[in-house]
Amino acid sequence: MKCMTLSIPDGQFIAIMGSSGSGKSTLGQLSAGLLKPDKGTVYVDNIPINNRKSRSQLWNKIAYVSQFPEHQLFEETVFLDIGFGLRRMKYSDHEIMAKVKEAMELIGLDFEQYKDRSPFQLSGGEQRLAALAGALIKEPNILILDEPTAGLDPSARMKLHAVLTLLKRTRRISIVYITHDLQDALEHADRLILLHHGELVHDLKASAIQSVLDHPRIPLFPTPLLRLCKELEVIFPEIADLEIVQENKLLNYVSERILRISEMDNE
Ligand SMILES: Nc1ncnc2c1ncn2[C@@H]1O[C@H](COP(=O)(O)OP(=O)(O)OP(=O)(O)O)[C@@H](O)[C@H]1O
Ligand SMILES: [Mg+2]
Repeated sequence: MKCMTLSIPDGQFIAIMGSSGSGKSTLGQLSAGLLKPDKGTVYVDNIPINNRKSRSQLWNKIAYVSQFPEHQLFEETVFLDIGFGLRRMKYSDHEIMAKVKEAMELIGLDFEQYKDRSPFQLSGGEQRLAALAGALIKEPNILILDEPTAGLDPSARMKLHAVLTLLKRTRRISIVYITHDLQDALEHADRLILLHHGELVHDLKASAIQSVLDHPRIPLFPTPLLRLCKELEVIFPEIADLEIVQENKLLNYVSERILRISEMDNE
């Protein structure tokens, strides 16, 4: 990876995008102290995280949910897995029980139904939810999610986004969301970071996406919504200035237009 600095204000949701092999997971793992750089030093909040001692300061500051959640699960039961970090931090059994239950229910995993099951016998989507609960239980300031919606059904995806929005608003948690899904990123992220061959090539507001879509080094393709907006620009040029990248913004615009037309008809 090339040298890069990323400042993420509290409560910001950033999406990391880039083609396969561009370094998204590597960046996530380096930031969480799970991977040692071959050269150089990684600092998070001015803490050098290359050595174990300083890394431990980051334990409840930063949480990473792997692209492959099955790599992160290792205990005999879902309960033990999710509560693992709290046991290491010497929380009482009573506190662990309450916090594991809260984290599982927040993410939509029924406590009674799942607590005694082996994480290895869960479906891919259920494993991802268990790994997410294990990350959230630490109440981190920074949450790094590596392709978190892969394998989740639509209702679990909506639930995940509802939880992330809640955490962002109430706890001012910073969310680093690695994804290949541009529309998913545009719907939820404040900011997009684009990587290419291990290098940060763009750092922009999500609403400014149109400016980089034609860039030859960026393998991003316009989503159906962005294509529709481009088509509509021919009839309604003002759309270009509105920087519409989210479905609800387009719906609002169209319904306002329809309202204006029907008002003119009535005059
Ligand atoms: N531990 C490692 N040692 C050496 N090279 C690695 C290591 N892990 C990953 N790489 C290489 O670094 C590059 C970036 O990998 P990375 O997993 O970060 O990509 P990615 O952007 O997450 O891709 P994907 O979208 O497929 O998940 C790849 O070429 C990969 O082969
Ligand atoms: Mg990856």
